[in-house]
Amino acid sequence: MTSPLTAVDVIVTKRDGGALSDEAITWTLDAYDHGEIADEQMAALAMAIVWRGLDTRELRTWTERMIESGERLDLSTLSRPTVDKHSTGGVGDKISLILAPLVASYGAAVPQLSGRGLGHTGGTLDKLESIPGWRAQLTPDEIRRQLEDVGAVICAAGDQLAPVDRKLYALRDVTGTVESIPLIASSIMSKKIAEGTSALVLDVKVGRGAFMGDRDRARELARTMVELGEAHGVRTVAQLTAMDAPLGRSVGNALEVSESLEVLAGGGPHDVREVTLGLARDMLALVGLDADPATHLDDGRALEVFRRMIAAQGGDPDAPLPRATHRDEVLATRDGYVQALDARSVGVAAWRLGAGRARKEDPVSAGAGVLCLVREGQHVSAGEPLFELRADDDDHLARGRAALADAAVIDDEPGELRPLLIERVTRDSGPLAS
Ligand code: URA
Repeated sequence: MTSPLTAVDVIVTKRDGGALSDEAITWTLDAYDHGEIADEQMAALAMAIVWRGLDTRELRTWTERMIESGERLDLSTLSRPTVDKHSTGGVGDKISLILAPLVASYGAAVPQLSGRGLGHTGGTLDKLESIPGWRAQLTPDEIRRQLEDVGAVICAAGDQLAPVDRKLYALRDVTGTVESIPLIASSIMSKKIAEGTSALVLDVKVGRGAFMGDRDRARELARTMVELGEAHGVRTVAQLTAMDAPLGRSVGNALEVSESLEVLAGGGPHDVREVTLGLARDMLALVGLDADPATHLDDGRALEVFRRMIAAQGGDPDAPLPRATHRDEVLATRDGYVQALDARSVGVAAWRLGAGRARKEDPVSAGAGVLCLVREGQHVSAGEPLFELRADDDDHLARGRAALADAAVIDDEPGELRPLLIERVTRDSGPLAS
């Protein structure tokens, strides 16, 4: 039977500020999935949603349909409680590498199905692929087995997880329609709900290096995702965390693995440890595990789970990590205090050095990246190195240097240091406006 609906009706309804019926949403996403709605029509609808939004009912139905477009992973037979974390993406954000084994070391199962990095923030899979032998592709049975035995899995989200989101996200990426709270929330949450986790902690980054620069917008995104998770039976908490300066000292694939190992061994940069512990506390609490997560960072048990997680996916946890062949430094041009380190500039520099990709099929360099040699608030002298650059050729070094030209702001006063953990958003934080 042919549908009485047409793509043009749906686009025009949303363009003019109307609400889409459940039937219209279901029909639209199914038809797009089956190639019966053209990309240009879906792009027009996405742009109408950017301007007009989706109300709570529309958003639930939209998300439900994205989930139903693929398969759900069934983790209900595991003996461990499942809990995952998602970050909206930040520069130097290697928290997942530490958090998954840390939370697993207390008895939870952490199914981290991830994507690859695009643009100035690196992808978790790209980071782990710098470990010799490690493989990102696992079958659902392998995922379940590893979750039961080791407790932590970080692997590629298969093609069957919310496939209509995959298609729509690629279209949004090239049509200026990523920046819409309902579209972002449904995209992220459809994948997390389909992954089968029973609880979820969201790390919503706010600041210069995040795609939500503004705290109010970040809070609205967090609330929207918490509400969607709870509506689908996934206990969900969000934390807004600062992303003005890069997290930690290292930005780049192998460099970030190396820094994660330091944190897993009880050391490493203070900011990485603090954000990890803040998120770990919520993850443990959501699944009823009463423990102080700092203990297993300090006694080596989280590191032990990390090593088992890597080995279970073919990686050699003892193999030396790849190193880039070329190095350079950016020096301070004056004496003073480091008032700001601009995360976005550092992210762009790491990307230009070869650590990130412009198109999804591009290769990445494992050893390339930036080491931030100073922290905000620190006093430096003219001529002192601020950043170390690593790349596999001179050309990349020059392009990375250019991106770092204004990345450090040095002034006479130290400036104000802002908190890293800004705000928690839970289902009790109050309803959304619409
Ligand atoms: N990440 C996603 O998975 N989807 C979005 O829309 C934005 C970020």
